[in-house]
Amino acid sequence: MQCESSQELKGLIDEAKIYTKDGQVAQYIPALRDADPDKLAVAVYYPDGSCYAAGDVRHKMSLQSISKVITLALALIDRGEDVVFDHVGKEPTGDPFNSIIKLETISPSKPLNPMINAGALAVTHMLIGNTVEERFERLLNFVRELAGNSTITYNEEIAKSEFETAELNRAFCYYLKQHNVINEDVEELIDLYTKQCAIEVNSVDLARIGCVFAMNGIDPVTDKQVIPASVVRICKTFMVTCGMYNASGEFAIDVGIPAKSGVSGGVMGAVPHKCGIGIYGASLDDKGNSVAGLKLLEMMSRKYDLSMF
Ligand code: DON
Repeated sequence: MQCESSQELKGLIDEAKIYTKDGQVAQYIPALRDADPDKLAVAVYYPDGSCYAAGDVRHKMSLQSISKVITLALALIDRGEDVVFDHVGKEPTGDPFNSIIKLETISPSKPLNPMINAGALAVTHMLIGNTVEERFERLLNFVRELAGNSTITYNEEIAKSEFETAELNRAFCYYLKQHNVINEDVEELIDLYTKQCAIEVNSVDLARIGCVFAMNGIDPVTDKQVIPASVVRICKTFMVTCGMYNASGEFAIDVGIPAKSGVSGGVMGAVPHKCGIGIYGASLDDKGNSVAGLKLLEMMSRKYDLSMF
């Protein structure tokens, strides 16, 4: 994994770093609670395989909700559009990622989109495989392929604490099971979902995965089509409309690129036809997005004219 350090990106990191003070690291599990809020990293991966980075780029983070885009891509490959959208909708919610409220107020009772927790659980449910281990192995290998990094694995401690604290996600599953959106054992699905959230990457891995999405599914190094373009188009659309949860509208105006955040402080950006961006900054705003990470993206968008709009 070659990545050159960039003075220009370092300058942006130094500027964005003050904003880490405006947020707080996720509190619900020890591994995230103990994260250093001052660490900030950015990597930019280009379609020609070159990469530029600054900050704590080797620092590992769990994918958390960023995994939702990757499982969506795999579920679309596994099951096709019709089956996937029988189980999950296509509309933004305007509610927090773990809100339960819309599940009860819409009919038929399927989650509104694959980026909120209820929708992501329905998507993970659709991953093909005979056992949790087999389904997880397929997902992990997919992440490794997209990142071009066969050493990627998951953090067992994070997966365990996620599993032990996933009562709200269990509630979503039972609700979905009652309404025939899922039909598997809830503990198995939570096991798979919490492992998926605990897959660990660094900012360069994230930037490279982002680059595959930016290039409509083409691997920047091998030139192989690793995700069908039609699948990438759907994923990127969800990243624009729901990737930052109830901050997606503001993000579209201020940054204007498909992106997805996670509670570990990671953000993956895909600038169409230009580059992938990977960010780490554990301090979160009240919507669960990296506070300095978003500032950094805003600065980059202005400086490099990245907005699609
Ligand atoms: O499902 C959960 O609660 C977490 N493991 C992932 C949530 C997440 O990353 C939300 N993003 N900001």
